[in-house]
Amino acid sequence: MAGAGSSPLSPRWTAIWCLFAVLCSLFTTGVAVKENDFKKCHQSGFCKRNRAYADNAITLGSEWQAPYKIPSELASFKDGQFQATILKTIDDQGNTVRLPLTVSFLKSGTARVTVDEQKRQEKDIDLRHNSGARKERYNEAEDWSIVGGLDVDTTAKVSHESKTGIKIQYGPDFAFEADITYEPYSIQFKRDGVTQIKFNDRGLMNMEHWRPKIEKPVPEKKEGEEGGEEGGEKGQEEKKEETPEVPASEDESTWWEETFGGNTDSKPRGPESVALDITFVGYEHVYGIPEHAGPLSLKQTRGGEGNYEEPYRLYNADVFEYVLDSPMTLYGAIPFMQAQRKDSTVGVFWLNAAETWIDITKAKESKNPLALGITAKTNTHTHWISESGLMDAFVFLGPTPRDISKTYAELTGATAMPQEFSIGYHQCRWNYVSDDDVKEVDRKMDRYNIPYDVIWLDIEYTDDKKYFTWDGDMFKDPISIGQHLDAHGRKLVTIIDPHIKNTGGYHVSDELKSNSLAVKNKDGNDFDGWCWPGSSLWIDAFNPAAIKWWSSLFNYDKFKGTMENTWIWNDMNEPSVFNGPEVTMPKDNLHHGGWEHRDVHNVNGMTFHNATFEALLSRKKGELRRPFVLTRSFFAGSQRLGAMWTGDNQASWEHLGAAVPMILAQGISGFPFSGADVGGFFGNPELELQSRWYQAGAFYPFFRGHAHIDARRREPFLLAEPYRSIITSALRLRYSLLPAWYTAFYHANRDGSPIIRPMYWTHPSEEGGFDIDDQFFVGSTGLLVKPVIEKDKTTADIYIPDDEVYYDYFSYKKLPTSKGKHLTVEAPIETIPLLMRGGHIFPRRDTPRRSSQLMKFDDYTLVVAVGKNGQAEGELYVDDGDSFDYEKGQYIHRKFKLEGSTLASTDAEGRDTKSVKEGEWLKRMRDVAVDKIIVIGAPSSWASLKQVSIESGGKKTSASIDYYKADGSRAAFAIVKRVGAGIGADWTITFA
Ligand code: NOJ
Repeated sequence: MAGAGSSPLSPRWTAIWCLFAVLCSLFTTGVAVKENDFKKCHQSGFCKRNRAYADNAITLGSEWQAPYKIPSELASFKDGQFQATILKTIDDQGNTVRLPLTVSFLKSGTARVTVDEQKRQEKDIDLRHNSGARKERYNEAEDWSIVGGLDVDTTAKVSHESKTGIKIQYGPDFAFEADITYEPYSIQFKRDGVTQIKFNDRGLMNMEHWRPKIEKPVPEKKEGEEGGEEGGEKGQEEKKEETPEVPASEDESTWWEETFGGNTDSKPRGPESVALDITFVGYEHVYGIPEHAGPLSLKQTRGGEGNYEEPYRLYNADVFEYVLDSPMTLYGAIPFMQAQRKDSTVGVFWLNAAETWIDITKAKESKNPLALGITAKTNTHTHWISESGLMDAFVFLGPTPRDISKTYAELTGATAMPQEFSIGYHQCRWNYVSDDDVKEVDRKMDRYNIPYDVIWLDIEYTDDKKYFTWDGDMFKDPISIGQHLDAHGRKLVTIIDPHIKNTGGYHVSDELKSNSLAVKNKDGNDFDGWCWPGSSLWIDAFNPAAIKWWSSLFNYDKFKGTMENTWIWNDMNEPSVFNGPEVTMPKDNLHHGGWEHRDVHNVNGMTFHNATFEALLSRKKGELRRPFVLTRSFFAGSQRLGAMWTGDNQASWEHLGAAVPMILAQGISGFPFSGADVGGFFGNPELELQSRWYQAGAFYPFFRGHAHIDARRREPFLLAEPYRSIITSALRLRYSLLPAWYTAFYHANRDGSPIIRPMYWTHPSEEGGFDIDDQFFVGSTGLLVKPVIEKDKTTADIYIPDDEVYYDYFSYKKLPTSKGKHLTVEAPIETIPLLMRGGHIFPRRDTPRRSSQLMKFDDYTLVVAVGKNGQAEGELYVDDGDSFDYEKGQYIHRKFKLEGSTLASTDAEGRDTKSVKEGEWLKRMRDVAVDKIIVIGAPSSWASLKQVSIESGGKKTSASIDYYKADGSRAAFAIVKRVGAGIGADWTITFA
């Protein structure tokens, strides 16, 4: 706006300004992509149609006739599978299309419901525009997502069958039942006779069958009609018939073509969406379906106070400067939702890789006036809408959150055991600009005794954004960086993105083209789009040949400048295409096997992550180490491949607050190795914010400081005191707790449990915690954290989920807690609110060092927080943190138990560890001991003890104990020093 007294802008200046603005929007990297650059439901044809379909069905109420039915003669049950054909009535003449249905009952107790379209199975359809796309509905999402758990339970049995339906019992002790009604088709899933989940109960199922396009006369365009660029239906509007009476659900205007932001989708198969209503009966809370920047307990999406107007969207996208508290899509998608009520958790996994929208509404069931005293229960209604593919849903009946996490992990796999260094601290920015810059940052971290494990190189290290090359002026000797870092056990991560500069003489681009391994456009030519390097091609990581080729690029002798301590960051893999629709690829692009990008979009990022993961498994003949690859885009199953982060956040208090719910959502959705850019990506955090962010980040499973290229340098050593020390303390806290973190990763790897755990997950009986998402437990350590996320805040109110005893981590104060109430603790800027729940034992390493590798063979401290009943229990899992030898028994897994006056360490799996043939690492661990034991809440009967006796392997020794009496609110505690008991050995310590 021109200032007072200035003359209005002349047309010439306006033109120059406009040009400047356009250029900025093209080339300024930090430019904000507005919410309007991404579709709302009404701009996405299939979402709009299905919402309208739902509105129509709901308005008609009992008059609504859902058009899907199963003729009983087309149904059968055999060997754990129910098979039938659903007939969809498509017109008033009673014509139908055939939709094959399979309901499989899996050994894990999970049920899978799959609906396909017969005509498309038989490839009996015509594609428009001479498209080379496949004719079937996309049926390979499972090849990417599912790695096990599909064994069918042949003992599942029919308990009742009639012309109108069938009931099948399955699951543990046959406690689960699928009650399938034939007309209209619907399923109720019951546990112990009580309905938990209903499919198509509201009759919103909609499978848009293939149909030929019938050319109709071009109607005249109505004035002021919605559409065009913003309305998302430009190009279609001209053909739209004047049919105001046609319900939106049958409005053809979005069937055959759609335009958004100037890009037209040719839609060669026309409308093909799949939608289903899924009701969680009696469940008030639903969680999951990341990635969204919003609360853990998902909001309603059909308007009303405090609710969203838009459905949650899953369509992986590069959303710069994303908005908070929004159902808008972000970079990754996991279509897995769980529902929680007191003492019961159930879940649904909607296996579909296409663009998906999910509406959520909650409704109180009308109360039966005769049922005095019984309060009406709330049902959560969900409506899942995907653009294409199969209708394929897995149903989990719990009953605990742990059961859900476990059964989901059986299907999609669990978190990979990480490279041990990767759970330390990562120092990143866009960009460290030269060899010298990297070495200097490293030296300064040392000078100020700040621990860290990894320094990262963003895109500027390359020669002109050509991945696998180096900017020769700035990075003259990259190997010298690797060696410099390696001297104290540190690593280097370099970024490699999926877009390949489309230029001659660049070996990667040349090979990609000559081997025809790039994603194709709708005409079958290499798709060319715009990304960091300018004109780019995209590796089609769906293609096994592309994966093989990609792998070869990472060989040490091919990717010059890399060595054993170089690891990889995959960014922009949604994929981000700057000039594409919604900053991604056109949906009619074609991938390996003829699948349209539309079908596979949400799994695309995972395929690229997978290719890099595979590559790191084979960089050198004979070398087999756990890969570390960070990804921005992800899908169900990505947890098997590495870590993720929440993308381009901002240096604001609000973004600091948004991070924990997002990371918790990742954790309960099977992908817990997650974090947010510490300090905030865009902008410059004030010192207080940065300090609070490091304190919070010290409790993210993935802990990385990162900053935008335009942000000021903010490495911890640059900060003025006291902030430098505050951040250093947070980092040291993280490093001392690495053994506990690693053990939490181990649990995630074994049974899919979240690494940081929300209240509902740890305390599913306590309704007061169901919508709490700003505090969490770390694994099974009993450590309860509530990061401070507000400016000038020096206290924290922590919800206490049970009546165990809680101690302050730093002061050992026994806190005046009360179950279900909030406890206020002091949290001045130096302090992170951190409690220890009584009854737990966790391992630490207390000597501060520069990197995790330098701590590898340090002795341990065990911290015992004595519970109300005088007992405590805990675990340690440790292996070499690098190879796959743990799969051959090369690990230590201890269980520690304090009972009365005895603390014992036994093998957590009851193994006879003596029979394990020790490799190098286990041999070295023989010399690693428990050095110190701190017992908080130690009984007063220990007050007079001077010594404790230790028995291990038939040998008896002793160690001195110092007892500190309770002092005011500070609990009594005891410290046993120089314990000397082997960390891998069985031992007993007697406090008597
Ligand atoms: C986008 C990523 O989200 C960000 O972390 C990175 O710094 C830039 N791309 C540049 O590579």
